[in-house]
Amino acid sequence: MDHSWSANWFNEKFIREGDLNKSYHLFQLQDISEFPGLIASHPELRGLNVTIPYKEKVIPFLDELDSTAGSIGAVNTILIERAGGKIHTRGFNTDAPGFLQSLSGLDLPGQALILGTGGASKAVAWALTRLNIRFACVSRQKRGKDILSYQELTPDIISRYPFIVNTTPAGMYPEVDTCPSIPYHLLTGNHFLYDLVYNPGETLFIKQGKSMNAMTMNGLQMLFNQAELSWKIFLSNG
Ligand SMILES: NC(=O)c1ccc[n+]([C@@H]2O[C@H](COP(=O)([O-])OP(=O)(O)OC[C@H]3O[C@@H](n4cnc5c(N)ncnc54)[C@H](OP(=O)(O)O)[C@@H]3O)[C@@H](O)[C@H]2O)c1
Repeated sequence: MDHSWSANWFNEKFIREGDLNKSYHLFQLQDISEFPGLIASHPELRGLNVTIPYKEKVIPFLDELDSTAGSIGAVNTILIERAGGKIHTRGFNTDAPGFLQSLSGLDLPGQALILGTGGASKAVAWALTRLNIRFACVSRQKRGKDILSYQELTPDIISRYPFIVNTTPAGMYPEVDTCPSIPYHLLTGNHFLYDLVYNPGETLFIKQGKSMNAMTMNGLQMLFNQAELSWKIFLSNG
């Protein structure tokens, strides 16, 4: 997630909600092993958001995971409870329900391709499972059941999987001239391209989908949804 976007969003939200004694700060870690020291040396910390590349690596350092974060295997929100000198950390994933909420009310195709196999891919898979949408992942390197290579995206596959979700960082600022290597010329007006990337708002992936009359959506609504859900989790900690 864009670090400065989160800081602005949460700090403006604290002001709007009248929580003037709270604030949101950025902490850069050189390595995830610095995480316990960060929490111990900042007793004022009540919650944290976690961004790339630590959403999966942070899990061994947490005391507890909620069921969604546990089944996805990635955490983007942490609640820190302190009582009697003890610290208890609980991990959540708000990317998955944030993505799910962003699809609300849409008439979606029944089969999807998820481009990428990282933490965001797992969050999207969690949501598609809840929507009974069958999916296959597409990877540059991994192989296995339900994982295709980009070279395997034949006309038949592209026509059978009209919902295509980009969960890779390809096309994200400043690499705006790149996009996932799918055969864009095979897209039609029946396709729906969803890009989790939101900066720029119109990626090359989205532009190429539009040029083939596909329906498109960027990651902004998901970004707002996951932040709002994190906010509610932080609020539960006083
Ligand atoms: N809108 C939102 O609220 C929201 C929320 C979460 C994440 N995101 C965005 O989603 C993207 C991925 O996040 P993530 O946490 O899943 O990252 P990640 O763990 O680094 O995974 C991205 C996956 O994409 C593939 N990949 C990486 N670089 C690539 C490239 N140059 N070209 C093609 N494929 C590439 C890799 O899969 P293979 O090696 O298998 O190909 C990798 O596992 C980021 O841009 C992030 O900002 C947006």
